[in-house]
Amino acid sequence: MRAFPNLEQCSTLLRIGPHLLANPVLLAPMAGLTDAAFRKIALDFGAGYAVCEMVNGKSDLWLTDKSRLRRQRAEGERVNARQIAGGDPSIMAEVARRLESDGADVIDINFGCPVKKVCRKAAGSALMRQPELIGRIVDAVVNGVSVPVTVKMRTGWAPDERNAVEVALIAEQAGARALVVHGRTRACRFTGDAEYATVAEVKRQLQIPVIANGDIDTRAKARWVMDTTGVDGVMIGRAALGAPWLPGCVAGRPEPNLRTKWGTVFNHLESIYTLYGIDQGVKIARKHVRAYLVNLGFTGAEARLFNQLTRIKEQQAYLGHLAA
Ligand SMILES: Cc1cc2nc3c(=O)[nH]c(=O)nc-3n(C[C@H](O)[C@H](O)[C@H](O)COP(=O)(O)O)c2cc1C
Repeated sequence: MRAFPNLEQCSTLLRIGPHLLANPVLLAPMAGLTDAAFRKIALDFGAGYAVCEMVNGKSDLWLTDKSRLRRQRAEGERVNARQIAGGDPSIMAEVARRLESDGADVIDINFGCPVKKVCRKAAGSALMRQPELIGRIVDAVVNGVSVPVTVKMRTGWAPDERNAVEVALIAEQAGARALVVHGRTRACRFTGDAEYATVAEVKRQLQIPVIANGDIDTRAKARWVMDTTGVDGVMIGRAALGAPWLPGCVAGRPEPNLRTKWGTVFNHLESIYTLYGIDQGVKIARKHVRAYLVNLGFTGAEARLFNQLTRIKEQQAYLGHLAA
């Protein structure tokens, strides 16, 4: 087993195509949450890289406001990675081309999403059962764009159908430049503990960078996962909600003090209101504030009260009261 690298010193180890990442601790894409506002904060706090929320790989959905917001580059974002999901190789290639001409630096293909709406359309993790189609999708997208293409997947469809190594080799062969593996099968959804033995096997078999994902929530856990699997990086999802500083801290930055954390909450809300406008912004703020309040040691009661507030001024005043 290799010696565990110091997370701050191993930046040369993780490259996605021509892009050298600041460090190997990545923020996971989370639809409805990791928008340009959230990614900017996480990157400012030291996350090595962040992927936009998934956009539907259907060409007719390209022009919706939702799609536009989901693919928006965060202020100061050096590498803008945009994610697509879908099951038709030629449509996926077309959407990828549009994303590239619209400024994407990396195209990420999602073969990990377990959501029914996505799986029913033979996309996301449903495709783990069709490795040959995965190969055709990756091949079509790689040949359709000049930017690097990456893949995010699960370990298989179900615990007795773990085919991550087969799928990963197919994706690599088709030209993927890096691979993220969430250590759960589709059937596991988000339950049980993430399993890293399959991730380690994928890493052993592949030449391209492999990034482990699932249940990584502390620096110690990240160290352990990197050490035991040999992966090139880790990706953090849920643990960064209400704690956008976490990827940076895992990479070696000091934990911000309480004052800075509260400042982050207020800045984040300002960005949300600007990005989405008043009506939608007030609603989106609730999802993040619930997570921030848990992180700051409050109980559900404060979040429930916050959820009843319908105006920006009320939301700000209530948080000002909690912060005082
Ligand atoms: C609310 C939510 C939305 C998500 N949206 C996406 C998505 O758009 N694309 C994707 O590849 N994964 C998505 N994921 C999965 C995460 O990227 C990640 O793989 C998963 O949460 C496991 O990592 P974690 O244990 O660090 O959270 C989502 C997860 C959550 C909880």
